[in-house]
This record gives sequence, C-alpha cells and structure tokens, in this order.
Amino acid sequence: MGWLNRDVISALDFNREDLVTLFNEAREMEKYARSRLNILEGKIMATAFFEPSTRTRLSFETAMIRLGGHVLGFGSVEASSMAKGESLGDTIRMLDSYSDVIVIRHSLEGAAKYAAEIATVPVINAGDGTQNHPTQAMLDAYTIWREFERIDGLTIGVLGDLRYARVVVSLIQLLSNFNVKLRLISPELLRPRRELVDFMNSRGMSYSMHSNLSEVLGELDVLYVVRIQRERFPDPVEYERVRGSFRVTPETLAGAKDTLIVLHPLPRVDEVDHRLDSTKYARYFRQSALGVPLRMALLKLILKGE
Ligand code: NCD
Repeated sequence: MGWLNRDVISALDFNREDLVTLFNEAREMEKYARSRLNILEGKIMATAFFEPSTRTRLSFETAMIRLGGHVLGFGSVEASSMAKGESLGDTIRMLDSYSDVIVIRHSLEGAAKYAAEIATVPVINAGDGTQNHPTQAMLDAYTIWREFERIDGLTIGVLGDLRYARVVVSLIQLLSNFNVKLRLISPELLRPRRELVDFMNSRGMSYSMHSNLSEVLGELDVLYVVRIQRERFPDPVEYERVRGSFRVTPETLAGAKDTLIVLHPLPRVDEVDHRLDSTKYARYFRQSALGVPLRMALLKLILKGE
C-alpha cells in the first residue's frame, strides 16, 4: 500500500518497507526541521486533542508549519464544542470539511479508527486509549535507527508500565518488523497484557520478562523507559502499590554497555533521574527533537506521496 492519503491508526498497518521509506524521508527532512520547505503550501492540518499533550501536538504543528502548511485545532475537550455536548462524530465531520488532514488524540480506544471511518481526509492517530500511539512508535524506532544505523540485531529493554502504556504496545508492534531481542522489565502488576504476549508469540518475536533491570542491563543496546500511566489505572489502590517502583539513575546503569542509549517518550515523572540527562546514555531529548522531521516525513508522504 502506498503512503498517499493513508490513515495512520495502528502500528500494525505498517510493514518494514513502509518504515524504511518513512525513515529515509525523515532523514531528508532533518535538513529542513529548523528552516522551511514549502511543499505543503495551502494545506491545512487540524489537531483534535481531547487529552493532554505537549510534544506530540506541538511537533505535529511545527512539522506542518515547516512544510509551508497551516494548522488549526484545539487541545482539550473544554476548548471545543464537545464541552457543550457535541458528539465526536459531529466534531470530526466539521474538521473534515475545514482541513486536509486530521490528527486526533483521545482517551477512548478506537476513537481514531471511528474518526477515520467518518472523515474523507486522512486521519492520524496521535494516541487513543491504552493500545495505540503509532506515530510515537515510528519516532522511537526512527531514533534507534538513527543512533545505530540499523534496528536488526539489537537488544532492546522496555522498562516501566507495560500494561497501560500505549506507546509500549505500538513500539513492540512496529519492532516485530525487525529482528530484535526484547527484554520486558516491570513490576509484576504491570506486565504486558495477554493480547500483547499473544501477538509477540504469533510473530515469533524473541522476548523475555523480568522484574529487575539488573538482570539484563549488561546486554542492552537500548533502554526504553515509560512512566507509570496513573490516569489509566482502573483502581487507584493498584497505582499506589506500584508508584515509584523503578527509577533509572546513573548508579542503576553501572554495568551497562558503553554504547547503551536511554529513550523515553516523555513526560517523565520520577522514573528517570534528572542526573541522567548529562550522561552519555541520555537520548530522550534527541528523540523528542526528532519528532519534528519524523512528522514532517509523515505529513509529506500522506499529503503528497512518495
Ligand atoms: C505518551 C502518551 O501520550 O501516550 N506521551 C507522548 O506522546 N510522548 C507517553 C506518556 O504519556 O507516558
């Protein structure tokens, strides 16, 4: 399937060839991420964010502006007519008639797919519910690819909330296109859901589960950390039992490979010590900066083609 007019709903919709095209395009876009490339002049991107966001929304907006396009939208339910009781369907119908592409974030699973069924313009899922955040996963995989010039052969640790973090699900789905070893590290309560385990098995992925980072640290090329998703816990008591149960510090990384990189989709709460920022391992700020060229590439491919 080509990229033109494509919806971006789930990481599962993208194969290795799609990703290679995207990464090469993003690499090209890095040249323009701080200047301008007027290839989407006259195009309008609508952002419909029904949940908080800093990086995802602003990097999509920056990307569109760098490409010469325009942006409109809102960043909360309160700021839209949904606060007056308008339905999601009606809201999407409006944006569909005002714009050329819609970027949506929602707390409900399936919201982006529903929007895509209503809209005639392409819809990009900027995170819905606990299961999908495909463009973050593309950015994460792109950062790894830029750092190592490859993804195959790497050992990737994923540490934190593997149960409720949608970035984790999308990242593992994308990584199934590559030959990687996964080390999944979390408190017992935050182990991946059955569906994700079934998925890894069905794709023959190499993975193992651990309770302590120290069990696998020495073999990792990448350590991907994700915060505990407090807002998604069905039971606050459960959250209290796991909060603060892991924290990456310069000390916990003693024994890591020299070339280890630490990634984090951000925001961090207290799972990555600020002292790590100035170490050779920290790559999460580069990762968030690469969100602009990666999303420029996405918008270009979807609105203009390859
Ligand atoms: C993530 C999200 O919204 O799922 N944030 C992001 O897009 N960078 C991760 C998170 O909130 O922990």
